[in-house]
Amino acid sequence: MFLDLAVVAGLASLGFCVTYGSIKHVPQLEWDFIIVGGGTAGSVLASRLTENPKFNVLVIEAGPTNENATESIVPGLGLAHLAMSRFDWNFTTVPQKGLNNRAVTLQRGFILGGTSSVNGMVYSRGPSSDYDRFARVTGDSGWSWDALQKYIKKNEKFELPSDNHDIKDEFDPAVHSFSGKVAVTLPGFLSPAIDSATIQASNELGGDFAFNLDMNSGKPLGLGWTQSTIGHDGTRSSSATSYLDSQTRSRKNLYIVTNTRVTRLLKTPGTKELTIRMVEIRSPDPSDPFTIFTASKEVILSGGAIGTPHILLHSGIGDENDLKALNVSTILHNPSVGRNLSDHPFLPITFGIAPGSIDLGPWVNLQTDPALAAEALDIWNKNGTGPYVQEMPNDHITWARLSKDSPTLALGDPSSGPNAPHIELIFNVISGIFTTIMLFVTPVSRGSVTIGSNNPLDDPLIDPAYLTTESDLPGVREGIRKALNFSKAPVWKNVITGFVGPLANATTDAEIDDVIRNGVESGLHPVGTAAMSSRDASWGVVNPDLLVKKVSGLRIVDASIMPYIPSAHAQVPVYLIAERAADMIKCTWR
Ligand SMILES: Cc1cc2nc3c(=O)[nH]c(=O)nc-3n(C[C@H](O)[C@H](O)[C@H](O)COP(=O)(O)OP(=O)(O)OC[C@H]3O[C@@H](n4cnc5c(N)ncnc54)[C@H](O)[C@@H]3O)c2cc1C
Ligand SMILES: *[C@@H]1O[C@H](CO)[C@@H](O)[C@H](O)[C@H]1NC(C)=O
Ligand SMILES: *[C@@H]1O[C@H](CO)[C@@H](O)[C@H](O)[C@H]1NC(C)=O
Ligand SMILES: *[C@@H]1O[C@H](CO)[C@@H](O)[C@H](O)[C@H]1NC(C)=O
Ligand SMILES: *[C@@H]1O[C@H](CO)[C@@H](O)[C@H](O)[C@H]1NC(C)=O
Ligand SMILES: *[C@@H]1O[C@H](CO)[C@@H](O)[C@H](O)[C@H]1NC(C)=O
Ligand SMILES: *[C@@H]1O[C@H](CO)[C@@H](O)[C@H](O)[C@H]1NC(C)=O
Ligand SMILES: *[C@@H]1O[C@H](CO)[C@@H](O)[C@H](O)[C@H]1NC(C)=O
Repeated sequence: MFLDLAVVAGLASLGFCVTYGSIKHVPQLEWDFIIVGGGTAGSVLASRLTENPKFNVLVIEAGPTNENATESIVPGLGLAHLAMSRFDWNFTTVPQKGLNNRAVTLQRGFILGGTSSVNGMVYSRGPSSDYDRFARVTGDSGWSWDALQKYIKKNEKFELPSDNHDIKDEFDPAVHSFSGKVAVTLPGFLSPAIDSATIQASNELGGDFAFNLDMNSGKPLGLGWTQSTIGHDGTRSSSATSYLDSQTRSRKNLYIVTNTRVTRLLKTPGTKELTIRMVEIRSPDPSDPFTIFTASKEVILSGGAIGTPHILLHSGIGDENDLKALNVSTILHNPSVGRNLSDHPFLPITFGIAPGSIDLGPWVNLQTDPALAAEALDIWNKNGTGPYVQEMPNDHITWARLSKDSPTLALGDPSSGPNAPHIELIFNVISGIFTTIMLFVTPVSRGSVTIGSNNPLDDPLIDPAYLTTESDLPGVREGIRKALNFSKAPVWKNVITGFVGPLANATTDAEIDDVIRNGVESGLHPVGTAAMSSRDASWGVVNPDLLVKKVSGLRIVDASIMPYIPSAHAQVPVYLIAERAADMIKCTWR
């Protein structure tokens, strides 16, 4: 219905060399670089590499273009319209032992811009020590927080929120960039009564909830204002809208094919060293011939933490024993491919609000009232303002550490350092319910992406193995107690009535654990399935320069290369990885 109402203004016009749906129009079979997956990282690489007019670049994206994708463009439409839509891979995990054998959905963007075109848009860099740990594990200081600062500058373009409110007490301009590609802003449609009570609660409680002017300084701990990848114009800023703007799309040395799935990578026959520079595209119609594109310089795999190991395994790059069982012939035995999948457990914690105790404003039923939704879209279309300039009214986030006596810490601190959070609490009021979305951001459990057949068009088997170590469950439990602590600030005294939903009846640890195992969903930040490690490590898939170990011509650039899951949402780390990778590639082929 909303599509009929929408008159989306100012859309980028069709690029000169973007082909929709058919690879028959691709003018040549050989390219300098072939980027597999035009997602968050892939779009950065396409943009940066074609800055050099001497390089020509082919991007192959499985999903459709982001242009005219209203549900993606309007932040307020995302939550209700993107999951299980034509812009989703529609993945579900295998039944999860740690979640009472439930299978959970694992949304992934099936669209140009990838998951940045469908995500929740929270802009969080994470603690500096997360990047320093990447540097330590790989032996490459270029992955450290200090060394990555220049890529933060190239990536971020901080803008005023769409309502032009005074933001001087909401962020620290000294740690931001105003000249990069991806628009970042503060909440552009405030919830005045809830926002001021939240800040008062922070002042009253201190400790875990002490006010932090800017959670993106490298020291995120405390409660602060949410920053999001949304522009002053109230539109989503994705990798596709920012790095692949219409000017970039019209470059003569860039060719983007959408609606086209890469099935396998192939080894170049007759080379002494294992060389992988060929990309196979097999149509779902088995009578169609294969198409093979070749990269003279590099194939860059940017299929994301699920797509990348999926393509590698079907190509015969993985654990030889697993592949043999499926009749996939191995071209490179590496048991790390698809292993060490790591994701954040996610749990909504809901509290009641006493009716009439606080002014929730006129939009409180936006998620359930179609008339309000139509009005919000109308304001957004006409003015670029109103409640739809945000995905949700999630104006504040708290990042907290576990308490010193936590059973999780007794097993060894899973965080990267003393400034790194274990727990994230995102505060929202939706439909009159105070919802704290909790992410346990230092999980130790690790799972896998495997394949169940030798047909590359079949879905992979995704097993994040949530809550399968002793370390994670008590951490989630403590997150719930921290949310409860926040609800007990004096300012909420006659406002928040206590838990509603399944936690209302849970008092013992065993009862709370049952609520957790029945309630946890995916935090939607999977990483680690093609991890980077030091050159001499006995494990890992890529070297610190992201070239696949023991292979010539193949690099991996996306969330799969992170050896540890960040204590943050994943898009900023992906952007920084892609910006640095682009520099490394330009340097290699200078
Ligand atoms: C609903 C949701 C909310 C999120 N919220 C946030 C948030 O608020 N903040 C945040 O920082 N992060 C968030 N994330 C996570 C973040 O967006 C991702 O971690 C990040 O975008 C991943 O980037 P990537 O480049 O690794 O993969 P992707 O962006 O997923 O790119 C992979 C691309 O490869 C394509 N592809 C895959 N296989 C093939 C194939 N065989 N052939 C051709 N193309 C292929 C895919 O279609 C996709 O376009 C969220 C994720 C989801 C799903
Ligand atoms: C997007 O919409 C414009 C205006 O309606 C149209 O001209 C264009 O063809 C559309 N692009 C795509 C890719 O659908
Ligand atoms: C996901 O499901 C939607 C809704 O059924 C469908 O339109 C879309 O094509 C599916 N995505 C893929 C990649 O098949
Ligand atoms: C593998 O190939 C053999 C011999 O062709 C066949 O018997 C077997 O069923 C195949 N296994 C799978 C998993 O396809
Ligand atoms: C998983 O990662 C750890 C390091 O965090 C490493 O020691 C281990 O070998 C990895 N496992 C595989 C199969 O790569
Ligand atoms: C339109 O935006 C302006 C500021 O840009 C604001 O003052 C005005 O209230 C908005 N109108 C509506 C209907 O929201
Ligand atoms: C909740 O607050 C109390 C009082 O400040 C504190 O002792 C306790 O550790 C807090 N709980 C958690 C899980 O942080
Ligand atoms: C809590 O328990 C009471 C009494 O058994 C029951 O009526 C209520 O539905 C339960 N609430 C939830 C959210 O399970």
